[in-house]
Amino acid sequence: MIRTALLALAVTAATPLAAQTPPAGPWGEPHLPPAPRSPVEAARIARVTAPTQSFDAAETYETHPAGAATKFAAPSRNAFSFPSANMGFAREMDFRLGNGLFKKLWVTAPASTRSSDGLGPLYNARACQRCHIKDGRGHPPSGSEDSGVSMLLRLSIPDTASDLPAETLAYLSNAPEPTYGLQLQDKSIAGLAAEGRIAISHTPVPVTLGDGTTVTLRQPQYTVVDPAHGPLHPDTQISPRIAPQMIGLGLIEAIPEADILAHADPQDRDGDGISGRPNVVWSTAHGQWMLGRFGLKAGSPSLREQSADAFSGDIGLSTALHPAAWGDCTEAQPLCRTAPDGALGAPDGLEVSDQVLDLVIFYSRNLAVPARRNPEDHRVLRGKALFYQAGCAACHRPKYVTHRLPDRPEQSFQLIWPYSDFLLHDMGAGLADNRPEWQATGREWRTPPLWGIGLTATVSGHTQFLHDGRAGSLLEAILWHGGEAEAAREAVRMMPAEDRDALILFLESL
Ligand code: HEC
Ligand code: HEC
Repeated sequence: MIRTALLALAVTAATPLAAQTPPAGPWGEPHLPPAPRSPVEAARIARVTAPTQSFDAAETYETHPAGAATKFAAPSRNAFSFPSANMGFAREMDFRLGNGLFKKLWVTAPASTRSSDGLGPLYNARACQRCHIKDGRGHPPSGSEDSGVSMLLRLSIPDTASDLPAETLAYLSNAPEPTYGLQLQDKSIAGLAAEGRIAISHTPVPVTLGDGTTVTLRQPQYTVVDPAHGPLHPDTQISPRIAPQMIGLGLIEAIPEADILAHADPQDRDGDGISGRPNVVWSTAHGQWMLGRFGLKAGSPSLREQSADAFSGDIGLSTALHPAAWGDCTEAQPLCRTAPDGALGAPDGLEVSDQVLDLVIFYSRNLAVPARRNPEDHRVLRGKALFYQAGCAACHRPKYVTHRLPDRPEQSFQLIWPYSDFLLHDMGAGLADNRPEWQATGREWRTPPLWGIGLTATVSGHTQFLHDGRAGSLLEAILWHGGEAEAAREAVRMMPAEDRDALILFLESL
């Protein structure tokens, strides 16, 4: 308790949070304390989660990427929208209510349906589902007419106000863009101007494969056009992001912090060219520093915080964590700060009550991961062997066993296969957004989980990958890998076509 109180005191001091050096971990996890593991159990888990050495047949339980929560169903557009398969009947009602709220279209205040108003004043979309379409990933705008709802631009400027002490220099910091805030909202309620529009141009980047084939990647450049309040600050850093898929998130939250930290190798002591650093972020909900797990740079420690941030930044709605009804309107946007809000008359003075937030979080925690389709197929197994040989598994870590969590039966003690280490990696200049976020540098991204990735075309009707959807196929996504992943990418670039196809088939089977 004393430690928490001291930290809380420290963060009210003038130094911006992101410029402070967080204490060494472990920090504590976003759920009630789990049942402890006995040494015997820990040893058994270590054996089960060790990378496999054998590729002759599928591993035991490999068909079940989410353990007992895995959903078996014929692939369809709804493949990402099922509840955890091990969910009891009584809890399915909450999942359905959460689904309704995730899809709900919020309206401008004041409206006759008081429980649905409070949208904006600035916003990116009127519902969670507008970006996380069919609970799958978003996409960049396909042309100048496309409003690009499932993508957003995070904004900031380097934080020059803070005098970074030497030991903190490694921890870069940033501050909101002074006028436009932390994110560009490209929509607004009637009578108020939207902040601007996203414009994207592309430069072709040809890559020649080992067999002479050329693949042309497209390097995007982002600008803000029609800025409502004049030009952005000259040092503005822009980070483009598409909405990620929503499956398996509760299981990610249930992975023991220690098991994620076990793979961190910030100084690359094992000399494999791959470091892997945890993002450590300030948790408003817990009042302490915590391991970042969610968001494309692991900038958020829990589904509660990520969801409350989304309500505030993306839809302009207040929650107990972000009580300002005006969302991301800055002091330089006074009209926006005084626009009517939906908190009037609400018993708790919030546009989104705790009860509504809890249901949305319950929904987000329980979107099931689909079963593997054909892990026994011999070409898929060949692709799996190549995945390990090329070094992909060094970051895309196959397996974990989740905590025993009495109050979260669906996530409790499951063998899961997300194919991620949930750590930050320098992915090279090509993928860099040059915008730091907590401990993440402008070149680092969190390894995304690969489960369900083979169903992207089925669910989302496109195959656009990476943080901003720039890759048009799985092969393009791999060819964009640089920095710590350069050796892995080169292995794929130089592969015979048959091996490359087998590797892609393996990814498509996830
Ligand atoms: C404007 C589009 C948009 C809207 C609307 C939106 N999101 Fe998101 N969502 C994103 C983007 C982009 C990210 C990645 C964020 C980052 O990297 O910081 C994300 C990330 C997330 C994540 C973390 C996923 C992961 O893999 O780490 C969760 C959970 C989430 N959103 C929930 C919600 C909820 C709940 C709502 C509604 C209250 C919502 N989102 C509304 C675009 C959106
Ligand atoms: C050094 C760590 C590292 C290695 C090694 C690595 N990856 Fe990745 N991978 C990442 C990161 C980080 C991203 C996200 C980059 C981004 O969005 O800009 C990513 C993204 C991806 C994506 C796109 C995922 C999505 O949701 O859009 C695929 C597919 C992928 N990797 C496959 C592979 C394969 C196959 C290999 C081996 C040839 C590999 N990766 C090696 C770290 C790594």
